[in-house]
Amino acid sequence: MADLTEKNLAYAFAAESKAAIRNEAFAKKAESEGYTQIAHLFRAISDAESVHARRYLQLMRGKIGSTEENLERAFENEINANVEEYPKLIKDATDEGKESIAKAFSRSRDVESGHADLYKKAMNHMLEDRETDYHVCQVCGFVSEDAPKDNCPVCGAVKEKFTQVK
Ligand SMILES: [Fe+2]
Ligand SMILES: [Fe+2]
Repeated sequence: MADLTEKNLAYAFAAESKAAIRNEAFAKKAESEGYTQIAHLFRAISDAESVHARRYLQLMRGKIGSTEENLERAFENEINANVEEYPKLIKDATDEGKESIAKAFSRSRDVESGHADLYKKAMNHMLEDRETDYHVCQVCGFVSEDAPKDNCPVCGAVKEKFTQVK
């Protein structure tokens, strides 16, 4: 019974996380089509699904530790995505001739190692009071420390495509 509930929590966490991102994408689409109010609605529901997802993650056994442990886990996840997971996805997409998807996976793989570096930095400077602004490329997910001066180093997007993390 307890195991089934644990499994269901993991399922609900994944489903709500997906719904949050999907609604956010729907909001962007609505915005681009001029439906401002519908975009607000999709964003509101996206935010609500995120509330659910976070709650389930908190309830799952051992998923959230101390910040030191979380940094370590986040670092390992990025390395795993870079070294193990994305290479497989890239190979499958390439084998099936899906070039643009292989390229999207490749960019993400490259970006993940940058994420890992940032976590490493945070782990090393954890106790220092260091203030860094982070800016995220909305095309590929590259994270820049401080405002980017030029195009995105991973995907080449113009610097206006970066948004600052509040
Ligand atoms: Fe990442
Ligand atoms: Fe980028």
